[in-house]
Amino acid sequence: MATEKEIRQAVTSEAQIAVHWREEGYYYPTAKFIGQANAADPGIYERFAEDRFPECFKEYADLLSWDSYWHTTLDTSEPPFWKWFVGGKLNACYNCVDRHLGASADKAALIWVPEPESADPVAITYQELYRRVNEFAALLRGLGLRAGDRVTCHLPMVPELPVAMLACARLGVIHSQVFGGFSGTACGHRIADSGSRVLVTMDGYYRGGELIDHKVKADEAVTAARREGAEVDKVLVWRRHPGEYASATAMVEGRDVFVDELLGGYRGQVVAPVPMPAEAPLFLMYTSGTTGRPKGCQHSTGGYLAYVAGTSKYYQDIHPGDTYWCMADIGWITGHSYIVYGPLALGTTSVIYEGVPTYPDAGRPWRIAERLGVNIFHTSPTAIRQLRKVGPEEPEKYSYRFKHMTTVGEPIEPEVWNWYYQVPGKGEAVIVDTWWQTENGGFLGSTLPALNPMKPGSCGPAVLGIYPIIYDEDGTEVEAGSGQAGNICIRNPWPGIFQTIWGQPERFVQTYYQKYCKNKNSTDWRDWPYFAGDGAVQAADGYFRILGRVDDVINVAGHRLGTKELESAALMVDEVAEAAAVPVMDELRGRAVEMYIALKPGIAPGRQMADKVTHAIETEIGKIARPRNVWIVPDMPKTRSGKIMRRVIAAVSNFADVGDTTTLANPEIVEDIRHHVQAEKAAHGDVPRELTPQEVEELMAFGQAE
Ligand code: WTA
Repeated sequence: MATEKEIRQAVTSEAQIAVHWREEGYYYPTAKFIGQANAADPGIYERFAEDRFPECFKEYADLLSWDSYWHTTLDTSEPPFWKWFVGGKLNACYNCVDRHLGASADKAALIWVPEPESADPVAITYQELYRRVNEFAALLRGLGLRAGDRVTCHLPMVPELPVAMLACARLGVIHSQVFGGFSGTACGHRIADSGSRVLVTMDGYYRGGELIDHKVKADEAVTAARREGAEVDKVLVWRRHPGEYASATAMVEGRDVFVDELLGGYRGQVVAPVPMPAEAPLFLMYTSGTTGRPKGCQHSTGGYLAYVAGTSKYYQDIHPGDTYWCMADIGWITGHSYIVYGPLALGTTSVIYEGVPTYPDAGRPWRIAERLGVNIFHTSPTAIRQLRKVGPEEPEKYSYRFKHMTTVGEPIEPEVWNWYYQVPGKGEAVIVDTWWQTENGGFLGSTLPALNPMKPGSCGPAVLGIYPIIYDEDGTEVEAGSGQAGNICIRNPWPGIFQTIWGQPERFVQTYYQKYCKNKNSTDWRDWPYFAGDGAVQAADGYFRILGRVDDVINVAGHRLGTKELESAALMVDEVAEAAAVPVMDELRGRAVEMYIALKPGIAPGRQMADKVTHAIETEIGKIARPRNVWIVPDMPKTRSGKIMRRVIAAVSNFADVGDTTTLANPEIVEDIRHHVQAEKAAHGDVPRELTPQEVEELMAFGQAE
């Protein structure tokens, strides 16, 4: 239990940040890695120098097969709706499947590892992928789907997911995969937002040793979409075990169909890939923001595919002969870019694992790596922390060998980085810490693995062709090496950048381009820096350290949850008057969510109320958003204008300094809440370790965005 004194010691003031800032040392790639790397010639920096922009990105686009070549590399006539490779036509599915049939028809495109260890991994060759994708494309076409239509997928980590995505891409249909762990309701909102009339799902899948019912979520999704006035005509249900039905919910006559039965009618059919304009949308990927409505990030066909192919080649160092395993979920952007589109565009073998990394024990990932000969491994700090905690010695027991490893999605602590390097990496694999976002399509910050040394805790310099700048609130540049943090922006457009927020173009401009726009009438891209919403510091060596979100987004296990989404879910409970969601430091997941709830007058607080709030969040968003604690408080700390001070609440949850509260309308409530919450937490041994200066900075920025 922490004493008052220990709690006081945990408080770090802003002035101490510079003093406590410890620069980590460099680590170098091995000669063996450098000798085989795709990007080993420093001349590559010349090729992507700023004076070669935008033509430098031809190098990425030339990795693809085009049906017709583009005439304009970058069209800036309608800022900030940039258009890449205008005039060009291509098909993403053709690039990821058909063009590898010649030499690589019998090579595994995908190796799927089912969660139950008793089931063998399934290799799907490029030839077999071609067959499956064509048949499913024929089925979709048979439903009347055409280029430009939207299809929502709510699929787990099974090969049917990339098959569905690629089948859509073959037809020019825009796919929108919703993370399988999201609730049916969350899926329904996204169906309605995208205007999909077809939902692709699965009856069940294995997670943590159980075959869980997933089809039940499809029914919830259809109902939730209907509440928003959107009708789903068809629910296509794949079966985890064809011929058997793993769900307790009934199939709805006329609406729901089993894909394995329907596919019989399309056996052997081939669908010509539709040549799509480079700027035609390929998919939507929903992410959280400062309002409750999720943002459907719209990604292009040509620019996106070129960018993920190029970055997969140079930063993931993927060669056609590699066996590459990214443990992310395909339902997130990392999986789209770096399990499906990037690796398959390069014709490599990409591994897909169905289940929980630590199931049935912490040796599982390393057994998979050993059995399949994985030589490139990609995961998140949350998974690394988890594997380190439950099985720190496990990797040594298995005889796999990685040449390259990636960490993505959240900052990684230097101690955790070191374990990743020494133990899973066996002191030999090069590591890239890749910083980027759903909106970006691909990496923004990373070392080039053979050319730049690694520095634990820093993502490294900007990637090829990306020119960042850090601004303070007033738009003054924060210099590298100044020790000051600011808002990281990208000065130039790049091919992987999303095109717009589906159906919300004004929000797109406002959220990402308004803050530092120099002249809104200008068609010169130099006047339109992209605002990433992350705080960052640049060291004197040019390496960036990403501090976290500056908007109202909480990054849980590398996944962005909007405070407004969490709060509106809590407000669906009738008795709740006010709700505030704040981040709390979490040993494993980086950040967790804590909810603060004020009840309507006359309602008695208690466990039951807290449970109702948790349940509402799980129903609206999914289990991933489950709060660590729900605190029922008599009132929220507020400014005189009535704004809830989330920053102050977050400081309480994290045992940090609440700062100056004298300007609040109700300063006395802060002490009240602090006392209650911290005593409860201390009683449960739930006191966080001392916060790092970065974390203090992040908390101070939290909830400041308007
Ligand atoms: C954070 C995931 C530190 C960041 C690809 C960003 C990171 C948000 C890193 C995007 C990293 C991502 N180091 N922070 N290497 N990578 N982030 O959209 O705050 O799910 O804005 O995309 O995650 O999360 P998203």
